[in-house]
Amino acid sequence: MNESQKLQSTKVLISAEKLRERVVELASQINQDYHGREVTAICILKGGVVFFSDMIRSMDMPLKCEFLGVSSYGGGTTSSGEVKLTHDTNEPIENKHVIVFEDIVDSGLTLSYIIKLLEARKPASLKICSLLFKPESLKTDAHPDYYGFAIGGEFVVGYGLDYAGLYRGLPHIGVLGV
Ligand code: IMP
Ligand code: MG
Repeated sequence: MNESQKLQSTKVLISAEKLRERVVELASQINQDYHGREVTAICILKGGVVFFSDMIRSMDMPLKCEFLGVSSYGGGTTSSGEVKLTHDTNEPIENKHVIVFEDIVDSGLTLSYIIKLLEARKPASLKICSLLFKPESLKTDAHPDYYGFAIGGEFVVGYGLDYAGLYRGLPHIGVLGV
């Protein structure tokens, strides 16, 4: 099967419309919780980029944007357990209210790494907002404070999430090859 055939056979798990609705709900929850306080929003590259860019446009407090690159999967569909920092943030986050935007929390290994890294920089507060959460796959104590959808163990792509670097631009969340 070539890539365009695979793309056509992507089963829609969460539609673009459902994603839009949930983003608005999550952002209004965050808007209420932060009461107009300044927030540093950190996008986890690369998978968080689509979710992040939708979320920041629905958040109404003073907002600064930072980008943190981590890589954990190599090219496959299971976590190597080894997390690598590929890009660091620019501005100090000490005494800042930080919200991290992730695409998905699966084993939680990446999230544990991120939390440890950022906690050491002494933010005023640190919360995690993940679009997707696979609660049954979790192997650590780390879990998102906010999440869009809990899903099963299936490997998903689209809306920022990739398989071997592809499919990030799909407007929905899909399951490959079904
Ligand atoms: P964890 O360290 O196992 O929690 O995995 C987190 C990272 O693995 C995420 O930030 C994703 O980049 C990637 N990942 C985990 N599950 C999936 C999936 O179903 N599709 C695409 N990427 C995934
Ligand atoms: Mg990722």
